Amino acid sequence: MSDSLSDLSSKSIQEISECSNLKELELLRVKYLGKKGAITKQLKALGKLTPSERPKAGQKINILKEKVQSLIDARKIVLADASIQEKIESSSIDVTLSGRKNNRGNIHPISSILYEIESIFHNSGFRVEDGPEIEDEYHNFTALNIPENHPARAMHDTFYFNANYLLRTHTSPIQIRSMETHGVPIKVIAPGKVYRRDSDITHTPMFHQIEGLVIDKDINFTHLKGMLHQFINTFYKRDMELRFRPSYFPFTEPSAEVDILSKDGSWLEILGCGMVHPKVLENLKIDPEVYTGYAFGMGVERLAMLRHEIKDIRLFYENDLHFLNQFK
Ligand code: PHE
Repeated sequence: MSDSLSDLSSKSIQEISECSNLKELELLRVKYLGKKGAITKQLKALGKLTPSERPKAGQKINILKEKVQSLIDARKIVLADASIQEKIESSSIDVTLSGRKNNRGNIHPISSILYEIESIFHNSGFRVEDGPEIEDEYHNFTALNIPENHPARAMHDTFYFNANYLLRTHTSPIQIRSMETHGVPIKVIAPGKVYRRDSDITHTPMFHQIEGLVIDKDINFTHLKGMLHQFINTFYKRDMELRFRPSYFPFTEPSAEVDILSKDGSWLEILGCGMVHPKVLENLKIDPEVYTGYAFGMGVERLAMLRHEIKDIRLFYENDLHFLNQFK
């Protein structure tokens, strides 16, 4: 009995220390300490001994039992650690690998200039107005003193849907619409898309304008000049040279076109403007003897081309990322 206990002891110690995984370790526990385990059997066999032999033998078995239990517990911690370590290693992420790139977009140069212009005028007390891109010929032409068969209609290269509806050729119809809605006095700008049958290095069939309209008592041409000068200087962040050239628009009198001096010394036309024609006011039942005002219409792409030194207007609408990414 004593021999077999020491066999049991050395055998179990060796097996536990050689055991290499948790499953095996559990099998060893059952093998020695389970209900039918070898050590348990020894304890059960105590009953067969004489009462005098019993305490000593019992003590020995219990010592072995505790030893085996504590060896198993210790081995369990070692094996559990190892298995966690193995899991970590097999599922680890190589943080030094380069990641997937997410290309971020940016606001289109024309949109960002529109926002900027809106905010400059907003700071000078202008309200921002909107109007439909599909217009009727009354608002696009007739109300603006361009009657049917007037040669100015032919100048506009209009896209027509039918005799009455068209794609607006300028933002000036919003002058009419905002006076219809709000009456006078009024101080608004109206940014938007306009359309003309035209396409070359300086023209696209769709482009953007910003319309301005100020009507009040005692408004005169100097107000227009002062306001435009202030706007252009703010927009280009430097003192710009402006040139007012006499021009003709049916809805303004007198009328002018305004050029700005670009860095390379050439003049670039950026807008048309003038004092609102009395006929336009009369069309809206506003008394031109009491109210006067000015209006202007700016080409947004022109302003953008000058600021970014872009020579071909079509670049704005070709969706070439090499071009667009430059405006991040
Ligand atoms: N609507 C004119 C154009 O498109 C510009 C303009 C607007 C001129 C307002 C005078 C006053 O050419």
